[in-house]
Amino acid sequence: MGLKELLKGKLTKKELGLLKTSFDITGDVAVIEIPEGLRAKENEIARAIVKTHPHVKTVLRKSGDRFGKYRLRKFKMILGRKTETEVKEHGCVFRLDVRKAYFSPRESTERQRIADEVKRGETVLVMFSGVGPYAIAIAKKQPYAEKVYAVEINPDAHKYAVENARINKVSGKVVPLCGDVKRVCARFYKRCDRVIMPLPKEGYKFLPVAIKCLKRGGIVHFYYIGLKNNLFENALNIVKMECEKLGRRLRIKRQRKVLPYGPSAFKICIEFEVR
Ligand SMILES: C[S@@+](CC[C@H](N)C(=O)[O-])C[C@H]1O[C@@H](n2cnc3c(N)ncnc32)[C@H](O)[C@@H]1O
Repeated sequence: MGLKELLKGKLTKKELGLLKTSFDITGDVAVIEIPEGLRAKENEIARAIVKTHPHVKTVLRKSGDRFGKYRLRKFKMILGRKTETEVKEHGCVFRLDVRKAYFSPRESTERQRIADEVKRGETVLVMFSGVGPYAIAIAKKQPYAEKVYAVEINPDAHKYAVENARINKVSGKVVPLCGDVKRVCARFYKRCDRVIMPLPKEGYKFLPVAIKCLKRGGIVHFYYIGLKNNLFENALNIVKMECEKLGRRLRIKRQRKVLPYGPSAFKICIEFEVR
């Protein structure tokens, strides 16, 4: 039985109309949005979620947008006690606390897509690496990668990345580093075959660093928020301008939609090679 059917009789017709039936589940933690007009019924809604998804132990209500450098979110706990959880995804396990570190279960397909592209012998740099999902997915899929460096500024997320590398038995391959990409990455100049930049709103500010980290012929995966009526143009212009400023030639390999981002935008990825 679906959430709406379960809640018939507990919610009025108007309230049922307000109910959002899609929500994220990270491990055993469900994160839901409840509009103002439904807040009085949030306990009933949380209980219904646990009935329809019996593995869920904690239900959190979003109480705002993501904020700050660490891209965290505030929540109200409606049901349960723990916010630390473990996510199983394509043979990887990610431990994290949803209150302390960014993680999006919606990006699991994207992580696999990137991991599929990494070749034997590559040195890969994952900027803005969070609890390590890209770096670990890559190391698991391409055990012959030379090294996968994972740079993250949030010490809590970094701590989980170290733990996750251990849990997934890729500690020798994945090297988590805590600090600001602008400061930490100077040591990688001209050393990387591939740089992943999963920070779509602000990542463009770090493009010069990413480009400098590449060997000749290296590849950047640049994420950006593109508006629906003009999906790729801004991102392409930014990428071309930054390469030009550094006197580097580029070749666009791919441009693609990743996920919807609100009603009028998409998270997109531009993949380009720098010579
Ligand atoms: C959108 S999250 C992506 C996290 C991870 N890649 C994932 O997919 O789960 C962006 C991450 O970048 C980190 N971050 C933001 N600015 C940074 C900087 N200047 N240097 C290093 N990490 C940064 C944030 O703390 C956050 O964990």
